[in-house]
Amino acid sequence: MNAIPTARLHGKTALITGGSSGIGLATARLFRAEGARLAITGRDPDSLARAQAELGADTLAIRSNTGRLDEIAALMAQLRADCGRLDVLFVNAGIAKATPFDRVTEDQFDEIMATNFKGAFFTIQQALPLLADKASVIVTTSIANRKGSPDYSVYAASKAALHSLVQSLGPALSGRGIRVNAISPGPVATPMFGRAGLPTELMQARKRALAEKSPLKRLAAPEEIARAALFLASDDSSYMVGAEIVVDGAISLV
Ligand SMILES: NC(=O)c1ccc[n+]([C@@H]2O[C@H](COP(=O)([O-])OP(=O)(O)OC[C@H]3O[C@@H](n4cnc5c(N)ncnc54)[C@H](OP(=O)(O)O)[C@@H]3O)[C@@H](O)[C@H]2O)c1
Repeated sequence: MNAIPTARLHGKTALITGGSSGIGLATARLFRAEGARLAITGRDPDSLARAQAELGADTLAIRSNTGRLDEIAALMAQLRADCGRLDVLFVNAGIAKATPFDRVTEDQFDEIMATNFKGAFFTIQQALPLLADKASVIVTTSIANRKGSPDYSVYAASKAALHSLVQSLGPALSGRGIRVNAISPGPVATPMFGRAGLPTELMQARKRALAEKSPLKRLAAPEEIARAALFLASDDSSYMVGAEIVVDGAISLV
């Protein structure tokens, strides 16, 4: 007789930063289907409300700007009060803005670094007291972190910093059985492209060029990244620490 499949995150509580859109929202749907209790964050209240309506009223949808330490502290205080502990922390909130090197301003530099790197760093630091022993921490990096990207040099550097952080924290937190790993997506069809600050036509052309570059001739769907997140969140990845899973349709190999 076939075994009855069990929900892989049954009884677990997961925080997904940037869970109101794209990769984070697709992951929230999958984690929920696998039995997790969810908290998601983002800045835009309307996106959060839409995501909560879809995910269920028991999902905590918390407005929190990850680039601000006071808001990270408030987020953790709320989670402590409402959930008590975290079994899965998906550090996923991020922005990708086009920043041609000769025109990057200090404000653009600070915004990208604060969101993508500083925010992730202090989210993990401030979550430490809440993380259960054997918790899984997953960080969304990007293939830009090793390849570089001429028009996205600040973004690429922020993701390279995250790659380094995962390697530092992997061994450091393993004493408590906390596993820290990363997912490195190639281009994924999410609203992020529309937020890059490019004219629509240029953005569409960029998407087509990226799809054409992949041997699979398409962008990833956010659900394809979510499945890697589920693997890292669950006990299926129990021997993975400080690693980075590349999900890029081989774009970084060509
Ligand atoms: N799409 C890709 O091609 C791709 C490729 C490689 C890596 N990634 C990475 O994947 C992650 C998710 O991106 P996505 O493609 O799913 O983009 P997305 O659809 O734009 O989603 C980004 C999420 O992050 C949130 N967010 C952005 N800035 C935030 C801030 N300061 N504080 C809190 N939340 C914030 C957004 O909500 P609000 O805007 O409401 O704050 C949203 O929920 C990012 O780290 C991105 O760098 C994406």
